[in-house]
Amino acid sequence: MSPAEARVTVEVVNRARVRIVGGGQKGLKPFIKWAGGKRWLLSNPNFSLPKFSGRYIEPFLGGGAVFFHLAPSQAILCDVNERLIATYRSIRDEWQLVQAGLSDFQEKHSKEFYYEERARQHSASHLRAAQFLYLNRTCFNGLYRENLKGEFNVPIGTKTQVVLPEDDFEKASKLLASADLRGGDFEAVVAEASEGDLVFVDPPYTTAHNVNGFIKYNQKIFTWDDQKRLMDAIARAKRRGAQIVLTNADHESIHALYADLGTPMVVSRPSVIAGSVGSRRDTTETLFVF
Ligand SMILES: C[S@@+](CC[C@H](N)C(=O)[O-])C[C@H]1O[C@@H](n2cnc3c(N)ncnc32)[C@H](O)[C@@H]1O
Repeated sequence: MSPAEARVTVEVVNRARVRIVGGGQKGLKPFIKWAGGKRWLLSNPNFSLPKFSGRYIEPFLGGGAVFFHLAPSQAILCDVNERLIATYRSIRDEWQLVQAGLSDFQEKHSKEFYYEERARQHSASHLRAAQFLYLNRTCFNGLYRENLKGEFNVPIGTKTQVVLPEDDFEKASKLLASADLRGGDFEAVVAEASEGDLVFVDPPYTTAHNVNGFIKYNQKIFTWDDQKRLMDAIARAKRRGAQIVLTNADHESIHALYADLGTPMVVSRPSVIAGSVGSRRDTTETLFVF
């Protein structure tokens, strides 16, 4: 555990209906680096998810930190980023081919090759997945951004390791074998949650009065109307008996949006301030358990 992770604390500002205790690191690490990833939260010894007997449902999968940590036996995993979901499918169904493709990209990696590869269209699904991982690992800050034509357009970064020592695609494939992977909007997936299921919800952090830096994952921005649509979907899932854990921005508009459903807990974590290298300050996020 890094010193930064060790400093993470969960502070309950108001009495929550469900106490969150236990936890610690277990399971697999994500093989995709993703903005807004939740590994830092899992490192907190005070954090764990409520017990559940049904399916694990994650409608905003991203790098899947919580899914890989929890290793549930049944899961529905969804993200609007179809290329991301296709990569998970390839790791599940043809991980050896993806791994071989990635090793090939490692050998060929250079600045020139990065830009050629970024522009290339592969027809084979395993090569598209290897390309996705190659670009994710070598692009600037592991960001995912598309231009208006839907093309990935992040410049090259400083990292040169394409094959990582911790890669265990075989284990990831086994874990994903029982997962139903869906590309698309969250609403249809949250609508399936019922009694016994646990829904872990980690949407882009849009607030009502503020356009913050984490919302533009794809061509489509996650708007305040989407936040309201999400709250309605969560309220319906809760009425059907599902348990829901939601992370979101620590902002009064988010607290107000969920005021009828539950009490927010404030989770603090260190963050790097862009532009001031080596400088860190604590930032806060909100956690709800419904
Ligand atoms: C904060 S990230 C999730 C990070 C993830 N928990 C992790 O540990 O890496 C939010 C994700 O929501 C996805 N997303 C954005 N709009 C969406 C929508 N309408 N439906 C489903 N997923 C969406 C983005 O592509 C992004 O991967």
